[in-house]
Amino acid sequence: MLLHMLILYLSQALVGLSSEQTCKSPQKREAEDATTQELEKAVILIKPDGVQRGYVGKIISRFEEKGFQLIGMRMEMAQRSVLENHYEEHAGKSFYPNLIDYMMSGPVVPMVWQGNNIVKIARNMLGATDPLQSAPGTIRGDYGVSKQKNLLHISDSPESALREILIWFKNPEQELITWSDPMQLWK
Ligand code: CMP
Repeated sequence: MLLHMLILYLSQALVGLSSEQTCKSPQKREAEDATTQELEKAVILIKPDGVQRGYVGKIISRFEEKGFQLIGMRMEMAQRSVLENHYEEHAGKSFYPNLIDYMMSGPVVPMVWQGNNIVKIARNMLGATDPLQSAPGTIRGDYGVSKQKNLLHISDSPESALREILIWFKNPEQELITWSDPMQLWK
């Protein structure tokens, strides 16, 4: 009797499993598509003032709450060669030497985030480089007071993001994590 009940239970469980696998609702399929698609990426780098003023958590929350997905993150003392590579377009400008020295003065937090149109949206959230121009409500507008100590850097285009990912995450296959985000359905 007990064996009979066990066989009945197992066969029902197997039927349930196979119908789950084969009869996906349109909503379920849509959700799976939304969670696995290739999304635009951006490097967001929290600078020494962002770390030392205790804004790491707040900055991460702003992007999480907006709906972007964090796929890579580390804390480190940045090497000069990495920064020279990252800021190569500014080499020769008057502020360049101070910028490199400043970026080596304390820990930084390089991160990779993804989401639809993340570069444009995240740059709007960041606000202008000059604190005199950055609007209240933006990250720099709320917390920034200096052109150099301006809390964070965000890639200026999807193409720059791909270049910067390889500067900060030399083994992206190992260092970046693709995880299924069911909330993508709503974004
Ligand atoms: P970021 O987005 O990291 O890109 C280049 C950085 O150079 C910028 O943020 C500022 O930190 C810095 N920067 C740009 N313009 C100036 C300036 N006029 N004086 C000092 N620092 C600057």
